[in-house]
Amino acid sequence: MHNRKRLVCPVACAGSLDNRIRRWLQDPQKILAPYVKEGMKVLDLGCGPGFFTLTLARMVGETGKVFAADLQDEMLQKVKNRIQGTGFESRIILHRSESGSMGISERVDFVLLFYMVHEVSDKERLFNQIFSIVQPDGQVLMVEPPFFHVSRKTFKEEIAFAQEAGFTVAGRPNIFFSKSVVFRKG
Ligand SMILES: C[S@@+](CC[C@H](N)C(=O)[O-])C[C@H]1O[C@@H](n2cnc3c(N)ncnc32)[C@H](O)[C@@H]1O
Repeated sequence: MHNRKRLVCPVACAGSLDNRIRRWLQDPQKILAPYVKEGMKVLDLGCGPGFFTLTLARMVGETGKVFAADLQDEMLQKVKNRIQGTGFESRIILHRSESGSMGISERVDFVLLFYMVHEVSDKERLFNQIFSIVQPDGQVLMVEPPFFHVSRKTFKEEIAFAQEAGFTVAGRPNIFFSKSVVFRKG
């Protein structure tokens, strides 16, 4: 069996994923603004402690939905604590994924894969599953950490998996301390 615990970011690192310095360097609103509009259904896959989840919920508005999915119950619990009392609870659906199956079949307009793809062992399956739920005009933003964590070669391979699933590269946004790519369907 693949050792999932060795690959995934432990919940003990949640603090490094959700703090004011990161918010300043990787402002969720600025990063997401080109892709997320009111009324959209979006998926925050590998949401971790929810650094992007609340901002997504604010951006999709009352008529939108955010699926926040993660492998780890402890991460989802952090998101749950965080959204409590914000008024956005009804827009956010928390979902525990399995390592080989994200378990979301709802059609979505946008998928955020922030610092998560390198943790997935079966990337071919991941992108096939994502392709099957993204709307025809939908987009996927994949952001991976710098070279000492994810090499250029690995990032290229990840892009190739997405292209094999049917996605095309639509852009290369500049996001601090990251490698980034936007995919479109078709
Ligand atoms: C480095 S954290 C990033 C969290 C968040 N996206 C952020 O940028 O703050 C990666 C997260 O992806 C989750 N993860 C890894 N593989 C996953 C999978 N196959 N399905 C869902 N979540 C996954 C991990 O549990 C972890 O919480």
